[in-house]
Amino acid sequence: MELSVFPNPYMASVHVANSITDVIQKNNAINRQTILGLSTGNTPKPVYDELIRLNKAGTSFRNVVSFNLDEYYPMSGSSGKSYHSYMHNHFFSHVDIPSQNIHIPDGSIAEHEINEYCKSYEQKITDFGGIDIQILGIGRTGHVGFNEPGSGIDSITRLVYLEDITRQDAKIHFNGSPVPEKAITMGIKTILEAKKIYLLAWGEKKAEIIAKSFLQQVSSDCPVSFLQGNKKLELVLDEPAAAMIQNEIQVNRI
Ligand code: PGA
Repeated sequence: MELSVFPNPYMASVHVANSITDVIQKNNAINRQTILGLSTGNTPKPVYDELIRLNKAGTSFRNVVSFNLDEYYPMSGSSGKSYHSYMHNHFFSHVDIPSQNIHIPDGSIAEHEINEYCKSYEQKITDFGGIDIQILGIGRTGHVGFNEPGSGIDSITRLVYLEDITRQDAKIHFNGSPVPEKAITMGIKTILEAKKIYLLAWGEKKAEIIAKSFLQQVSSDCPVSFLQGNKKLELVLDEPAAAMIQNEIQVNRI
């Protein structure tokens, strides 16, 4: 695994966005699709801003296919609180990705259809040849996607319960209405199958969970720890998020 530490989230995000568009451009040149695994939350916003800028500067996203990590359940895609809305507002509506190439777990599916739906989400990723580049944030519980503590290394796309801490952290986006108790999320196995993974974290409030994830024993108590030592992983941090880890792991300081 590679650890890259940047002075600020902007510089880190430019690095990640450039790496993504390099792959898109190479694939565009041979008419191959690029399959992106995308995440929500505050962390990837500057990456999306930079990708939008690079799209306007000439990198076409017409051959990009996207799979989002997760969505609250139950949740209508048209709700302003949904990850569907987040993705359209922060990214998709600003770039030339065709709408039929966008995949986000459907939080409005009937409960008795969820198992089949999750299987078909996994199958679609496989049918596209797997995810080329996966973008991840990290939650205070050590989740990636909504893989909360207890999630196994073999977990795949499924319905999960959210931890109280996760629901508390989401409250700010729900304007007083209750945060759903459940979500549909890709699993740890789904994530680990990506060909390249960028895990991003900014700010001192992420320093402790980053240290726990990468310096302590691998355990389903902290699902991000399943990424420890993974050759496909680049851990991209700003200085404050790296504060408790950078003396322990070799760093590419930018
Ligand atoms: P954040 O959330 O990017 O808003 O910090 C990350 C996460 O919970 O996965």
